[in-house]
Amino acid sequence: MYKAYEKYLSTLHNSAKYRRLGQFRQESNTGLLDFSTNDYLNLSHHKDIIKAGEIAAQRYGIGSTGSRLLSGNCKLFEEFESAIAKDKKTDSSLIFNSGFQANISTLACILDDKILNEKPLVFFDKLNHSSLYQAVFLSKAELKRYHHNDINHLELLLREYQNDTRLKFIVTETVFGMDGDIAPLEEIAALTKKFNAFLYLDEAHATGVFGLNGYGLATGVELQDIPHIIMGTFSKAIGVSGGYIACNNIMRDFIINKATGFIYSTAASPALVGAAFKAWELVKSLDKERKTLQNLGNTLRKMLKGHGFNIGRSQTHIIPIILNEEDKCLKTQKALFQEGIVVSCIRPPTVPPGTSRLRIALTHKHTNQDLNRLVETLSRVLKS
Ligand SMILES: Cc1ncc(COP(=O)(O)O)c(C=O)c1O
Repeated sequence: MYKAYEKYLSTLHNSAKYRRLGQFRQESNTGLLDFSTNDYLNLSHHKDIIKAGEIAAQRYGIGSTGSRLLSGNCKLFEEFESAIAKDKKTDSSLIFNSGFQANISTLACILDDKILNEKPLVFFDKLNHSSLYQAVFLSKAELKRYHHNDINHLELLLREYQNDTRLKFIVTETVFGMDGDIAPLEEIAALTKKFNAFLYLDEAHATGVFGLNGYGLATGVELQDIPHIIMGTFSKAIGVSGGYIACNNIMRDFIINKATGFIYSTAASPALVGAAFKAWELVKSLDKERKTLQNLGNTLRKMLKGHGFNIGRSQTHIIPIILNEEDKCLKTQKALFQEGIVVSCIRPPTVPPGTSRLRIALTHKHTNQDLNRLVETLSRVLKS
């Protein structure tokens, strides 16, 4: 009975694609220099945020006891959703247990051919996150992938299907999680309008870091007369966990009535929602930290380029060091760890074949000294 699963695992072993759980997170500062965390604003240990989580748990319980449609709703959730909507400049918003759940539930259900009476066309950046891919696969919509961040290719595909009467959706991350580059949002919004499409944006890595008061890049784009949904997470710069969508009232109502991942799942723990709400409010006061983060990114890019590393098209606090071969990446990651430096090793299928990389994620608490140590150690271990 287990044979097929064992066979699959041994194929992974043989092709160096076998995945292992990460190193244990440290309970206290052990002196490791960590470039692997998505806690970009170092909020995961913030005392006021932890306290807000405790207060919410005392008030509403640690568990939410049921789905939002049954016993699991509470005022805290709706207050937080109103705040998100205001900051994202949308009518309303809806919270999910995770960003993955927000994407797979929302996107799959808005692409539902039984609702739309036809299979929609989905124009989709090739490097979009797995949760977005899974949503499209689940919906069985017709997938039209465009080259990463290539506005000309997107337009070419849209033109090709211009006379096709099926509904069109454009799906992209705003900051790409594995490449650290930024989607050309103004141009994408213009094409969405021109071709009467629906825009779905994933702000997982932009939330807290970019845009007006840190509330994502979509805050800087005119989206009023374009049908759209903006998704984001509380699991990265916000420092907690959970996801959200920001949209108009019709879409919120539709998701509440149709998205199985929302309807049939126990609501998030009030502790996490209370903590995420506090962090969300705090984010608007962190302009200085955001600036530091961007400056660190600029400095590290310059240093890495100076040493001849391939860092792709990174423009943000996320910087890939593309070493191409999986084995080389794994060995370098191990060698860095032995020197007290933690980085993530990202391999296919998370990234395209032949582009295995070390993923450097900066936080605003890194220093220029930390960057020097990373680049110096990396150059040394790669030479040995
Ligand atoms: C672009 C993108 N979207 C969605 C998710 C899923 O978010 P979460 O980790 O909150 O489930 C991730 C997580 O890595 C992501 O990078």
